[in-house]
Amino acid sequence: MIQKVMVIGAGQMGSGIAQVCAQAGYAVVLNDMKQEFFERGLGVITKNLTRDVEKGRKTEEEKQAVLERITMSLDLQDASDVDIVIEAAVENMEIKQSIFKQLDAIAPKHAILATNTSSLPITEIAAVTTRPEQVIGMHFMNPVPVMKLVEIIRGLATTDEVYKAVEDMTVKLAKTPVEVNDFPGFISNRILMPMINEAIYALYEGVATKEAIDDVMKMGMNHPMGPLTLADFIGLDTCLYIMEILHEGFGDSKYRPCPLLRKYVAAGWLGKKSGRGFYVYN
Ligand code: CAA
Repeated sequence: MIQKVMVIGAGQMGSGIAQVCAQAGYAVVLNDMKQEFFERGLGVITKNLTRDVEKGRKTEEEKQAVLERITMSLDLQDASDVDIVIEAAVENMEIKQSIFKQLDAIAPKHAILATNTSSLPITEIAAVTTRPEQVIGMHFMNPVPVMKLVEIIRGLATTDEVYKAVEDMTVKLAKTPVEVNDFPGFISNRILMPMINEAIYALYEGVATKEAIDDVMKMGMNHPMGPLTLADFIGLDTCLYIMEILHEGFGDSKYRPCPLLRKYVAAGWLGKKSGRGFYVYN
């Protein structure tokens, strides 16, 4: 029975995951390295909940109850009494492996160790623990409170029992679970990133303007955002990083990152978060 959840990382993804877990009634320990990071994450959650109250989707009491279910943690030792950890720290294998090694020593024997990685191999993260059968990928989409999907990724050793517990939890979070095996980019980014990369190639080759490329996919394919706008929204550094993982993981030139993507990242044009990507943001 999953009752208490630790979320590691109070950034964009971690705070969203903490919010949906608290909304579903779970006790949530939100961990980050500094109090200011936690407070920034809690601020975003509070803003989202306030909007829900304003729009009549929640009462003020419900908002307060959700916030009360979230407690701050600045120490991984707080994992000692949780039933599941969902790690949403930076996308770096060494950092994730270090966190999982520590969690393996701290978390109760029965606890599931999940990662929100968007592309790093679950099996490789699991291999540093003594419980690889209880390690699993739980890939939420951004913005977490809005997007319905959770891609659940089985590592090589993940048991059916652990998969089922995470699938049940996902349904309780009012999300739709999809089962995927552990291959580079899973399904979401194996398909999304080459599409974005191809849109960047089309821009690079002068086939059309950025606005035209986005309009084709928005109005012609009913995508909510064009691929270049979406790339800015995700972060161009993240897009490049995931393309590199696909390229290296499959060893296939069809996943080669577009030189224009490399150039933008080298220039520090990382998308919305840096104020400039394919578009300019104020
Ligand atoms: N947090 C919480 N709620 C948010 C939000 C956020 N960051 N951004 C938007 N919303 C809410 C808005 O408040 C609004 O809700 P209400 O009006 O009912 O209060 C609703 O979402 C719609 O927002 P908008 O009207 O402002 O704009 P929109 O209709 O364009 O929707 C969007 C915004 C949901 C982000 C939409 O543009 C969209 O679906 N875009 C594509 C998102 C996508 O593809 N995500 C996946 C990215 S890839 C990923 O996450 C995985 C990876 O590994 C890289």
